[in-house]
Amino acid sequence: MASVPSLSASIQQRVADALGADPLLRRSDRADFQANGVLGLAKRNKANPREVAAQVVEALPTGDDDGLIAAIEVSGPGFLNITVSDAAITRTLAARAADDRLGVPLKADPGTTVVDYAQPNVAKEMHVGHLRSSVIGDAITKILEFEGEKVIRRHHIGDWGTQFGMLVQYLIEHPHELDHEAGETAAGEESMSRLDRVYKASRKLFDADEDFKTRSRKRVVDLQAGDPETLALWQRFVDESKIYFYSVYDKLDIAIRDEDIVGESGYNDMLIETCTLLEESGVAVRSNGALCVFFDDIKGKDGEPVPLIVQKADGGFGYAATDLSAIRNRTADLHADTLLYVVDARQALHFKMVFEAARRIGWLTDEVTVKHLPFGTVLGKDGKPLKTREGVSTKLEDLLDEAVQRAAVVIRAKNEELSEEVVAARAAEVGIGAIKYADLSTSLGRDYVFDLDRMVSLTGDTSVYLQYAYARIRSILRKAGDAKPAAHPELPLAPAERALGLLLDEFGNTLAGVAETYEPHKLASYLYSVASALATFYEQCPVLKADTPETVENRLFLADLTGRTLRQGMTLLGIRTPEQL
Ligand code: ARG
Repeated sequence: MASVPSLSASIQQRVADALGADPLLRRSDRADFQANGVLGLAKRNKANPREVAAQVVEALPTGDDDGLIAAIEVSGPGFLNITVSDAAITRTLAARAADDRLGVPLKADPGTTVVDYAQPNVAKEMHVGHLRSSVIGDAITKILEFEGEKVIRRHHIGDWGTQFGMLVQYLIEHPHELDHEAGETAAGEESMSRLDRVYKASRKLFDADEDFKTRSRKRVVDLQAGDPETLALWQRFVDESKIYFYSVYDKLDIAIRDEDIVGESGYNDMLIETCTLLEESGVAVRSNGALCVFFDDIKGKDGEPVPLIVQKADGGFGYAATDLSAIRNRTADLHADTLLYVVDARQALHFKMVFEAARRIGWLTDEVTVKHLPFGTVLGKDGKPLKTREGVSTKLEDLLDEAVQRAAVVIRAKNEELSEEVVAARAAEVGIGAIKYADLSTSLGRDYVFDLDRMVSLTGDTSVYLQYAYARIRSILRKAGDAKPAAHPELPLAPAERALGLLLDEFGNTLAGVAETYEPHKLASYLYSVASALATFYEQCPVLKADTPETVENRLFLADLTGRTLRQGMTLLGIRTPEQL
């Protein structure tokens, strides 16, 4: 494992040394890079910027005297245009190719990050919001781990609350409603439809029958008191739901581990203490019997303050008590220094209040970074939230199945000789990849339209386009026969080769940026640029039919490294790269 400094970092360093200030290096269309830092420095020193720039040019070796910079010149009011040598590009890429991690360094100071994502609710159908949280969270955990961070996953599923009194009571009175039938196949779907049936029936009874309502409320008390029979029945709902969750995650190709599912109920033992500590410290106060935290800047439409309710007047604990307890657990017990929450933007106020309350009492300190990563809503083609559209199925599983079916059509059209089995296997990778990519290529906060036609399109900014780019590289490498990828730094590079090479060299820098800002869409757009640069490279530079054997090898080398970069990047986004399409 050897980390490889990027060309941009090396040049930045070289020019900084000559200039004695930050050169503010940027990619440029005129040369490879442009340094804009001379202007500010000259201004500060009351010097002539073109003269300062000329001195830097003078001080830096170029061309054959230097392995790195081929040419440097002053332009405009005092910019520096810098061209990297072809040999340096090829040598750097060869160093990347020699490394399993493509030369991407591990973080120098890794910490522990808890990522709270993929948090559906027990006994309820998952919706597209849960899809977003799962897809984004999965990508972020993978990227952080690749960077060397210790990542702890937490699936804060909704598995507690008053509705479970109703559900358990119903099951006591209708004991066989969650029983499995002999020979069930579509386990996940059947689990969900059973749960749904029980949920609807018990809700109906609850609304219509006062006595059942009373029995349900008593049952909540038993549940909270830890009555073993009640808990055992509650557990059946959790287990049944997990069968369903796992079946959806399986389809989504997202690995969820049982030990990482720590739902709301996982913090039960801490709730009383959390409330006591908040009340004794004065951070929370009683207001009309409820335990509340107030904020000067958070007011409702009527101008009245909107408090965070930690405990209700009837003694019940809310969502906030659980989240505050989870913060205590994650900082004090799990020793996390970063807490991330991949949750719907509509919960922004909740998290703002929870974080602020935790800061006031000292459960969150300046040493801990805490971030709600809010994501926008998935819209239907009519621009309305997908969830609420009438008449159209928005069941998560149906959407996934439909994406896979559409992908199958695209794959079959491309190659009619494929067997149905092969089509099905590839369609799963293409269809699910399409859904994930459409989600991940949108910046987090934005809403996006769920448009399957666009998602599985072969052209444009889609995962299928990236998957085809990868498969095509693999096909060329298979066809190369005896010719093997090999770097030849002595060969001059064509413009399309340089452009592709410089982009490949930026993989590590891109990942570092994404890991810092938690913006997977930047990795998606980087990969799209790589695939586009590859398309131009194919157009302008014949690979197997190149003039000399060395050029063939060098182009195979470039193609191979591009494939590995695409594959690594897509893997981090949770997207498969079929060898053939
Ligand atoms: N289960 C919740 C929902 O479906 C999301 C939980 C988010 N995480 C948290 N720590 N509050 O909306």
